[in-house]
Amino acid sequence: MAKDKTHYVCTECGDTSPKWLGKCPGCNAWNTLIESTVESGGASKNRYAGMAALAPSAEVATLSDIQAHDVARTPTGQEELDRVLGGGMVDGGVVLIGGDPGIGKSTLLLQAMDGLQRSGMATLYVTGEESAAQVALRARRLGLDHSQVQVLAETLLEKVLATVDKLKPAVVVMDSIQTVYSEQLTSAPGSVAQVRECAAHLTRMAKATGTAVVLVGHVTKEGALAGPRVLEHMVDTVLYFEGDTHSTYRLVRAIKNRFGAVNEIGVFAMTEKGLKGVSNPSAIFLSQHPEPVPGSCVLVTLEGTRPMLVEIQALVDTGGPSPRRLSVGLDRDRLAMLLAVLHRHAAVACMDQDVFVNAVGGVRISEPAADLAVMLAIQSSLRGKPLPQGFIAFGEVGLAGEVRPAPRGQERLREAAKLGFTVAVIPKSNMPKKPIEGMTLHPVERVDEAIGLVRSLA
Ligand code: TYD
Ligand code: MG
Repeated sequence: MAKDKTHYVCTECGDTSPKWLGKCPGCNAWNTLIESTVESGGASKNRYAGMAALAPSAEVATLSDIQAHDVARTPTGQEELDRVLGGGMVDGGVVLIGGDPGIGKSTLLLQAMDGLQRSGMATLYVTGEESAAQVALRARRLGLDHSQVQVLAETLLEKVLATVDKLKPAVVVMDSIQTVYSEQLTSAPGSVAQVRECAAHLTRMAKATGTAVVLVGHVTKEGALAGPRVLEHMVDTVLYFEGDTHSTYRLVRAIKNRFGAVNEIGVFAMTEKGLKGVSNPSAIFLSQHPEPVPGSCVLVTLEGTRPMLVEIQALVDTGGPSPRRLSVGLDRDRLAMLLAVLHRHAAVACMDQDVFVNAVGGVRISEPAADLAVMLAIQSSLRGKPLPQGFIAFGEVGLAGEVRPAPRGQERLREAAKLGFTVAVIPKSNMPKKPIEGMTLHPVERVDEAIGLVRSLA
């Protein structure tokens, strides 16, 4: 491969410079220039040159004249993975899959590659982290003894690309993007410059040859994929593994997907023989208390297309001079806001109390429809009184103390009823026209109404 000339690109504004500078001449940010051979949009003369490789040039046409055909997808055989991918692997598609170490990225991909290989696609699994023998050992453990997946233990990008060129596989996994490096750059493997450069080369290769590429990325302690989000906009699909490495269940969430819906989740259980899809996950995030306990409220959340029941736990306890507010699986700023709303609009004061909130099972909840359940769990813990048996809640809470509707309320209620829940406090606008069999519904419009109601129920 000809040695491209390296230059320096700003990770903030994309401006380029022939030599390294501490301060970006384009946006004046400090320490943002990284080494690169890849052209990116910036002040350089060739600012669009790199893009030509990404999309073959075509005539301009009106939308209605363009023959739109659905992209061809190959299912991986892992139904839960196919669900988040939007149906399967897409030719020339680039998927980035991120997550904590040990959460199951390599396991899932090996299983998926084997599935693709069995369906007749040529696959190549490039491992930079483990030796080929270690990958083979894992395959045995997964019961894939006769797997025809081709394995390459290599960290030099140029060699990986040469192998891809020779074998012409339909799918390539790069496990992980942080271990691969290009000899055209002087930066160390794993540095932002290397990660970005290698990902860009692999993406170009995918678009130019129609090979599907899966990049495995490590998540830093701060929760971002190393290479500060630079990869997320380069690829077509971004998937994140969530969940507690100590628990059985793992979630794979689509954060971005050019070929499917975002926020769709796939649920897996880690077993002795690898990851198994959980096709009916609605009740896995409930802890089984024989009797209701204070500080616990079950939320019906809608993750992707499926409603799930998640137990929200709160512990409110006497704190020191500066009480703590901690949340696991929920947004901490949102918690602070809810505490303020509770105080102002429902006269529930936690000013001198430590407040801890947890979503059971390591699941992360981002939808605001969790607000009401969080509030009810907090007030239940504060009073030391459990919520009624078989109780669920959902609904967004606003700063004025109003309870706003959650999307697809009926579906949530039906799922809860199916799992044996009998009492619900819900936003008034989510009140279904027909009653839900086996459920007593309490519509509320305001936070104080909801608090008063659960006090009278318990
Ligand atoms: P791995 O796929 O290596 O994680 P990652 O690539 O994200 O770092 O997963 C490793 C963990 O999964 C490890 O702690 C062992 C566990 N595991 C099982 O429980 N069962 C299995 O069949 C396999 C292969 C791994
Ligand atoms: Mg791994």
